[in-house]
Amino acid sequence: MTREPIRFTDGAAYDRFMGVWSRLAGQDFLDWIAPQPGQRWLDVGCGNGAFTQLIVKQYEPFSIAGIDPSEAQLAFARQHPILQGVDFVNADAMALPFPDDAFDLAVMPLVIFFVPEPAQGVAEMARVVAAGGTVAAYAWDMDGGGFPYQIVNETLGAVGRSAPMPPSAGSSRLDVLGDLWTTAGLIGIQSKTIEVERTFADFDDLWNTVLGGPSAGQTLATMNEQEVSRFRELLEARLQPAGGSPITLSGRAHAIRGTVAER
Ligand SMILES: C[S@@+](CC[C@H](N)C(=O)[O-])C[C@H]1O[C@@H](n2cnc3c(N)ncnc32)[C@H](O)[C@@H]1O
Repeated sequence: MTREPIRFTDGAAYDRFMGVWSRLAGQDFLDWIAPQPGQRWLDVGCGNGAFTQLIVKQYEPFSIAGIDPSEAQLAFARQHPILQGVDFVNADAMALPFPDDAFDLAVMPLVIFFVPEPAQGVAEMARVVAAGGTVAAYAWDMDGGGFPYQIVNETLGAVGRSAPMPPSAGSSRLDVLGDLWTTAGLIGIQSKTIEVERTFADFDDLWNTVLGGPSAGQTLATMNEQEVSRFRELLEARLQPAGGSPITLSGRAHAIRGTVAER
């Protein structure tokens, strides 16, 4: 079955939908990597800069570049006051526009499942990071139900619809990530699971977050008023059987890191 691709056309809506999650899980990921200050960073699939902000605020990079193929995401990132020193480039993870050994650290936060050929993306990160440097990624455990809006997608299924899915959803399994890092020649490979929670003030807060975002929001935009209203009622009943309280969702991601060997 060919599914519609997920489109990243609105950096602000992305921030509400996924940027908040990105910073929650991303902080855990960065604490685990424990980077030194003064390094040359590359943020692959930097999107609207949600995660890039964490690097800039905490790790005093010597330099930092971010690449992403979505101009809308990059436009949002470029206007962020904290990100003025970041070199944002419109590019694809599978063909990084940088020479060999240009960075000390390459990170790929919430992106690997969007890369049509993940092995090529990991090989590119390993190429542009100098020997002794780090190549790391984390991504929602899509196959294991770790996507934070899994219940939204399941409820779409219950009304005969489906949310768009990333092209390489299976790449976020821990065994697949391990194979990808090994195949790219990385050494000292370690992985871990990250669990996070986010609380929405009420159902409307969650609903408007989903409606504006990529993923399920794209499907909702194609449904008529009656269908949307039926879906909304079903989702609300599943999430808030007792009505009227904050809603907490949880997400589970897999993280992996490896070191570039001497060449
Ligand atoms: C879920 S967002 C993650 C953004 C950011 N890293 C974060 O943590 O918020 C996925 C991003 O991957 C980007 N993307 C999609 N295909 C890509 C590719 N082939 N190479 C690099 N980035 C890609 C999208 O444009 C989008 O900004």
